[in-house]
Amino acid sequence: MTPARRTVKKSETFSYGHATLTLADCLEWLADRAPLSVQAVVTDPPYGLVEYSPQEQAKLRAGRGGVWRIPPSFDGHNRSPLPRFTTLTAEDLRRLEQFFARWASSLMRVLVPGAHIVVASNPLVSHILARPLAEAGFERRGEIIRLVTTLRGGDRPKNAHQEFSDVTVMPRSMFEPWLLFRKPLEGRVQDNLRKWRTGALRRISRNQPFGDVIASHPTRPAERALAPHPSLKPQTFMRQIVRAVLPFGEGVVLDPFAGAGSMLAAANALGYASIGVEYDPHYFEIARAAIPALSRLTSRGTPIADEASLFPRDGESPSASPIRREDSCENRLFALAPDRPR
Ligand SMILES: C[S@@+](CC[C@H](N)C(=O)[O-])C[C@H]1O[C@@H](n2cnc3c(N)ncnc32)[C@H](O)[C@@H]1O
Repeated sequence: MTPARRTVKKSETFSYGHATLTLADCLEWLADRAPLSVQAVVTDPPYGLVEYSPQEQAKLRAGRGGVWRIPPSFDGHNRSPLPRFTTLTAEDLRRLEQFFARWASSLMRVLVPGAHIVVASNPLVSHILARPLAEAGFERRGEIIRLVTTLRGGDRPKNAHQEFSDVTVMPRSMFEPWLLFRKPLEGRVQDNLRKWRTGALRRISRNQPFGDVIASHPTRPAERALAPHPSLKPQTFMRQIVRAVLPFGEGVVLDPFAGAGSMLAAANALGYASIGVEYDPHYFEIARAAIPALSRLTSRGTPIADEASLFPRDGESPSASPIRREDSCENRLFALAPDRPR
């Protein structure tokens, strides 16, 4: 399947808090970005590329599926559509790898030494994402496992359920791998931390290092209503990983596949600067409304009472923000009470 390339006619930008979102193709945006100007990347790319092509998005919006599996509604609730990665052909996979090879080398130029990249993936295609990142020269630093049970896998053979009632074709998916890479350091970790303010991950607290397994849950209906994107990631999870990628909270975090802007909202809630790039005008408009709404959510899923306190005033460090002491960050963010799996 050859996806038609989306052409973005006019680049448009909007900002909310410390976040800026641009309507553009990320490869073109990266080519124009100054070298050594981004301190971290947290992103959730189109794993199969074809699912966010104009043709497949048209089918999804018409409710006709295509590469998207539209699960039957259940208990009166409509489930989110899921892309079917098992339908990708050898040619699709080759194209996917070529795209990520270009993407990885563009990132290498704009990132500072020691910058971390955290990329959402899927057990079926994670190797296709990992290889171009490693070949571009990034160091593999492991994976972060988001523990989440989805509707993927776990089925008996199609049209032979009764004959083979005791087997499952693929395991029921209970985790999502997020690949972790780092641009090579300049000198030792301590040298890089001093010079570039990157190279390590921020601890949860003095006594608790950042860990690589995070209990999560499917994105809550309330968040989906604020940001109707089929791949929306939950704030509680996003805030934990975004917080970790800037060891001192200094610099800017980039999401080149921003969707409805869940990474930018998470960064805002943390007082971090962020940039997003999204090429689909439909999702760009959704993000314009969603980023303010998601930024204001507390860990309980309710909006913070005092919006003015969300963003520190000029010259004030994010940790001085009154919101940090009240609702506030530790509570609003994360997690210290992890998400309860449903
Ligand atoms: C998996 S979704 C990200 C969803 C996001 N994590 C959220 O929570 O809303 C990937 C997004 O990347 C966008 N996209 C795909 N290719 C792109 C490109 N070359 N440049 C910019 N955006 C792109 C798609 O339109 C889609 O919205």
